[in-house]
Amino acid sequence: MKLVAPSMLACDFGNLENEILMVNKSKADWFHIDVMDGVFVPNISFGTPIMNVLKKHSKKPLDVHLMIVNPDNYLENFSKLGANVLTVHAEACTHLHRTVQRIKNLGMKAGVALNPHTPISSLESIINEIDLVCLMSVNPGFGGQSFIENTYKKVVDLKSLINISNSNALIEIDGGVNSKNAKKLIEQGADVLVAGSFVFKSENPTNTISDLSALIN
Ligand code: DX5
Ligand code: ZN
Repeated sequence: MKLVAPSMLACDFGNLENEILMVNKSKADWFHIDVMDGVFVPNISFGTPIMNVLKKHSKKPLDVHLMIVNPDNYLENFSKLGANVLTVHAEACTHLHRTVQRIKNLGMKAGVALNPHTPISSLESIINEIDLVCLMSVNPGFGGQSFIENTYKKVVDLKSLINISNSNALIEIDGGVNSKNAKKLIEQGADVLVAGSFVFKSENPTNTISDLSALIN
């Protein structure tokens, strides 16, 4: 089963409760939630107040993507806010192994995100400890950017690292995902597709989610 995770960053925040209910009723598997601090990435998105609304209304797992410096200071906070998967950036963690252990000890699945320039080989010594690798297929910070084609090669390399290591890590692709690249990403080994603009800027987000899910399953 391959998963679709709509990125709430692209939803209508003036209508947040209804957007959450739409995702609840749709074929989506997870909520993807982008937390940006304006330091690790050149944009600020949202934090605790929006997370509280998501926690209150969502009926599907919350996949929280932290694009922040010093994520260690907030792991407990996001656990209390209902995160099921908590993803930190490898580039933001000096002691990534310790951070991953702490996420798991708090009862969450541990994800590690890699920026487009960060090689897959940087995960060799930790791939067996993590539940999910989020490959950034755009430079993080904004929705609506174009998919970086080199991601395909990274998916193949990551899948091979996972296989030779006997790791159970899921491969998530984040940024510029649409119906044109979804199938190839899955064929090359991706498990979870995040889609923001493609879903929420479409005429009928519910149908777009169903179509994407059908395309990859
Ligand atoms: C980018 C975020 C993505 C983004 C995806 O920094 O991590 O999750 O919301 O949005 P689209 O699908 O519009 O590229
Ligand atoms: Zn994201």
